[in-house]
Amino acid sequence: MIAIEDVSKRYADGTVAVDRLSLQIPDRSITVLVGPSGCGKTTTLRMINRMIEPSSGTIRVDGEDVRSRPVNTLRRSMGYVIQNAGLFQHRTVLDNIATVPRLLGWSKQRARERAAELMERVGLDPAMARRYPYQLSGGQQQRVGVARALAADPPILLMDEPFSAVDPVVRRGLQEELLRIQGELGKAIVFVTHDMDEAITIGDRIAVLRTGGRLAQFAAPDEILSSPADPFVEEFLGSDRGIRGLSFLSTRDLELDRSRVFPVGSDRREMSGRAPEGAPVLVTDADGRPLGWADPGSWDGDVEALEPYGPVFEVGRDSLRVALDRTVLSPTGQAVGVDGSGKVLGVAGQETVAAAIRSARRRRRAADAPQEAPAVKAGR
Ligand SMILES: Nc1ncnc2c1ncn2[C@@H]1O[C@H](COP(=O)(O)OP(=O)(O)OP(=O)(O)O)[C@@H](O)[C@H]1O
Ligand SMILES: [Mg+2]
Repeated sequence: MIAIEDVSKRYADGTVAVDRLSLQIPDRSITVLVGPSGCGKTTTLRMINRMIEPSSGTIRVDGEDVRSRPVNTLRRSMGYVIQNAGLFQHRTVLDNIATVPRLLGWSKQRARERAAELMERVGLDPAMARRYPYQLSGGQQQRVGVARALAADPPILLMDEPFSAVDPVVRRGLQEELLRIQGELGKAIVFVTHDMDEAITIGDRIAVLRTGGRLAQFAAPDEILSSPADPFVEEFLGSDRGIRGLSFLSTRDLELDRSRVFPVGSDRREMSGRAPEGAPVLVTDADGRPLGWADPGSWDGDVEALEPYGPVFEVGRDSLRVALDRTVLSPTGQAVGVDGSGKVLGVAGQETVAAAIRSARRRRRAADAPQEAPAVKAGR
């Protein structure tokens, strides 16, 4: 665990970049530092690996003051990833990744084997091993940067806006990859971003900094969204923090309506009889996979004539945010909930989602203990 204790940084020109910051950064979790430009995020990160020395205060790793260790040893125990990857342009992808193992005295053979293993871990095609950084896309370069930082299996990973320079789709992929890698490796990751959405997506805990390097709030993402500490944090979260907060509520307990789901070939009188008056029904194939919406009063049984059912949500895996989104996209206002194999479990409209939100909140309030463990992400 990394302990930042009452740390300040005043640069030579008098700029106070970090002001009496204290943070406990636990093992096996992702802690995100977020805040506006110039609020001291990079300075904080670099004080952890001593690229910058604090003016006052102490930083400890597993109880030991970082100043008590030789700088080189310290840095090799911390992978460091920056925006635009910062790769060595004259070295191949494989040799970039093998850098730290080589510095640690591994044989060329062993370091390259390790590098090849890491390429696979971060989702890089082995065919890229011999390329040079300029022959890769921005997203691929970032993956090489992550692989290089992981090469010597350091317990700590410091990441300074590692995914800011790539487009949103690639960025989303890199975030998912990082979460997957973290699930396997369980590092202590300190991740800097100025993007609150990114912080919410990947952070177990988020430290919101304000200009002048002062801590505004340090909490789990759902807590920050539901109870911002002050107007600064609230404004930083943007105008849709309510909707974003639904990402942390599961669709597991959503009351799905099965009464208006029918396999193809069902009797149409039965459809009109069982479904709510005037409501469209969802027709599925014989295996229970959705085919489309029909008006039971006028549908002639032709599958081609069904209204498209639109994007679905996976019950239990997707969040209430996704379910709500699906109701908005659905031509009938009803979102289609499926199981892991794509079979329909039922449908839900906005009223149903709203009821699930209210009951999740009630449960949360009832269970609210001060030392509650961070909520498990419901995902997507
Ligand atoms: N070497 C330096 N000398 C003087 N001031 C500096 C120095 N490095 C950074 N600063 C100042 O310290 C403050 C914090 O800088 P820092 O780079 O830590 O911010 P940041 O939160 O990472 O910002 P960004 O989101 O733009 O990367 C800024 O006001 C910056 O101008
Ligand atoms: Mg910065």
